Amino acid sequence: MGADSKGRLEPGFNTHVFICGHSRPDGATRPNCSSKNSLELLAELKKKVREANVEGIRVQKSGCLDFCENGVSCVIYPMGEWYSLGGKKDLDLLLNRILDGSPAPTIKMDFDNGQ
Ligand code: FES
Repeated sequence: MGADSKGRLEPGFNTHVFICGHSRPDGATRPNCSSKNSLELLAELKKKVREANVEGIRVQKSGCLDFCENGVSCVIYPMGEWYSLGGKKDLDLLLNRILDGSPAPTIKMDFDNGQ
């Protein structure tokens, strides 16, 4: 096994956050998270996690998470919880969920969309 450049003893993170960064061309049949500023939200959340100075949290861009109509799509593990991020205002709720377990029901992805 190769040495880890950061001195870690085994692979993995305590919390893994994926934010969809997928984009589609104009006229596509499904919406996409990139057009809803997901990459800006991703960068801002990374910054907030850095500033929190907590080890073991990995925030990264994902491809399409296939819940495009509910995006910006976000999923966190190991909780397996899905969130719809509506803007920077939602990032503190998400961060509090990750850091101290505070529930964030207002940003949970809503599958009951009236259809
Ligand atoms: S484009 Fe983001 S979930 Fe599909």
